[in-house]
Order: sequence, then structure tokens, then C-alpha cells
Amino acid sequence: MTGSLLPGSTALNGICPYFTMFPLDFPLNILKRRARAGDVVLDPFCGRGTTNFAARLVGLRSLGVDSSPVAAAITASKLVTTPVDAILDEARRILTERVAHHIPTSEFWQWAFHPTVLDALCRFREAFLEDCTTDAHIALRGIILGALHGPKQKTFPSYFSNQSPRTYAPKPAYATRFWQERGLAPEPIDVLAVIERRAKRYYGMSYDITGAVRLADSRQADALQPEAPETRFDWVITSPPYYGMRTYIPDQWLRHWFVGGPDAVDYTNRDQVVHSSLGDFATDLRQVWRNAVDVCAEDAKMVIRFGGITDKRADPLDLIKSSLSDNGWCITTIREAGSATEGKRQADAFLRTKSKPMVEYDVWATRQ
Ligand SMILES: C[S@@+](CC[C@H](N)C(=O)[O-])C[C@H]1O[C@@H](n2cnc3c(N)ncnc32)[C@H](O)[C@@H]1O
Repeated sequence: MTGSLLPGSTALNGICPYFTMFPLDFPLNILKRRARAGDVVLDPFCGRGTTNFAARLVGLRSLGVDSSPVAAAITASKLVTTPVDAILDEARRILTERVAHHIPTSEFWQWAFHPTVLDALCRFREAFLEDCTTDAHIALRGIILGALHGPKQKTFPSYFSNQSPRTYAPKPAYATRFWQERGLAPEPIDVLAVIERRAKRYYGMSYDITGAVRLADSRQADALQPEAPETRFDWVITSPPYYGMRTYIPDQWLRHWFVGGPDAVDYTNRDQVVHSSLGDFATDLRQVWRNAVDVCAEDAKMVIRFGGITDKRADPLDLIKSSLSDNGWCITTIREAGSATEGKRQADAFLRTKSKPMVEYDVWATRQ
């Protein structure tokens, strides 16, 4: 694929942070250099939809699959095209016409959001739980997910919450103590103004092609089936959880609440690959790669970014090789992930204690 990207065309990729995302350049460079017109792309662990968005930027169709409802919602918001005005009209309509029925009341919620902001968020939440099928709703939900929590800004507010990290949600007891000790009361944010600024930033462009996302467990046999039965995927570009990274749902618990989860931290890790042992983890990944073989073209290529963390005595290369044995894939190349990703590694996001992350690898495989 050739051709340069239009200025501003990558902005939408930043609509919402996600824990352990890979940089857009990773899938983008592969597709720009190696993909052919008409190729179709799959990511069975799509997270915030970086691979899908890269495919969209180079004009290719894609399917992203993730078992986290937050990941699926963010990815969906990167695949719609909708005028900014349509997003703002919907936001105003929901705020004027709806009444929130369920507003969380515990101490955390009183400190996390100003009552008027929480009321608005609950109206949006209930509206989307009732119907989130239009492009305007999907875009608006993505915008609100991205603005839900983050640091206070010096100029215009950009986040709805009291002072918080943006990438992961703080745990309730810790966050409440933090705000109380510093006397940090939540402020009455102008919700519509935040939405408008973000809508203009992220939805100013239109793209020729879209893509699909599915909320599903990629270990299940039918999870990776293409939308059109005759389609075969030419590329799988993905990054599974690293061994030991089991906190995708708990660390995103506030965003998870917004897309329908409970108003407390959900530790169940439902439908996530298991981390109970190296063997169980490799078996889960093996199942996903096997499911991918079934839906891929004969000359398909798979590129997996994988790494590890120092406090688990697991060699990531042994682990990924074991997951790729005996399931229809043949490893062709293993490269250390380049220095361009320094500081943006998945392991950096994971290791809040700043211990040294292990190296990350890009593992290339073809069908056997
Ligand atoms: C490393 S992240 C992917 C990040 C992605 N490359 C990005 O740029 O945002 C791994 C993802 O795998 C998802 N996941 C874990 N187990 C899964 C399963 N069984 N089926 C589908 N997705 C799963 C997690 O929810 C998480 O979003």
C-alpha cells in the first residue's frame, strides 16, 4: 500500500486511552509496506482498536475482537463516520429528554464527580444501554469514555472526574482518601463543552472505509468468523495480554461501569485468557491462533507483538513459541520491537513501580 496520510487523519486514534495499547505505527507500518489493496485484517485481541484504525487509514477492511466491553466500545468509536453536529445534537437531546434512574451514591462517587456531572453521565449511560447502534451514539460513547477520568487541566477542563489518572481508573478506597486528604472537591464541569471540543478534534475527518468489531471471547470457535462468510483474512496483527497482565477489566472499572458494568470494581476477569499457569496461558493463546487459521487465507501472515515483565519468571519467547506450536502457523521471523516504541511499551504501562520492562518481540508467522 502506498500514499501518505492526510494531516489530522490519525487524531481519532487518541479518542480514549487504553491500558497497554501498542503504538499506531506498529500496525500502520506493516500494512503500508506489505499489504495489498483489498487485503482484510484481523486482530483477535483488538484492545482500543489500533490495528483496525491502522487498516482503516490505509483503506483496508478489518475485524477486531475483544472480550472487554470497554475495548469493543472504543474500537467501535474509531470505525464510525458521523458529522460533529450529529454527535452534539444527540448529546443535547439525551441531556434534555432523559432522566437518570440509577445514580451511584457511595462515598467514592460523591468525590469522583460533581453531582450535576454524575447525573449527566448516568443519563448518557442509560441512553446507550438502551440503544447504541447509531454512528452518532457510538461516537458519543467513545468521546465520553475518553473524557471520563483524567487530570485537571490548567485551561479548559478536558475530563469529567476529580483529579485522576487517565489510563486506568483509581480504586475507590485509595482515590477517596487521596481526594479527601488534599481537599480536592469535584468541580461542576460543562459536560457539553467538553464533548464539543472532543467531537471537533476526533470527528473532523471522514474515511473511505470502515471495519467491524465484535465483543467476544477469541478462544471460542466462532468468535473470529468474518462478517461475510466468503471473506478470508490476509493479515492478523495483534498483541495478546502478556503473561501476568490480568487486570484489563478491574483497571478500567469506571469505563466498564459506563458501558454497563457494576458501579464497583469487577474482579471477575470474565472471558479473559487465563494466567493461572504458563501452560494454561499458552493453551489459551494456542486456541486463539488455531481459530485464526480457520478464517485466514492460505498465504496469510500473522504478526504478534509480545513481551513479558520481570517479576514473572517466564521467558516470553518460549511462551509465544509454545503457543504457536502444532496449530497451523509457522514462525518465520522474530525481531526485537524497535527503539521507536521506547517509552510506549505495554510493559511500561503495566509496571507502575518503574521496574525495568523486559524486551518486546515482534513474531512473524505464516500459515503452514
Ligand atoms: C495487550 S491488549 C491489546 C492492546 C491493543 N493492541 C491496543 O493497541 O489497544 C490485550 C487485549 O486482549 C483482550 N483479551 C484478553 N483475553 C481475551 C479473550 N479471551 N478474547 C478476546 N480478547 C481478550 C484484553 O481485553 C485486552 O484488550
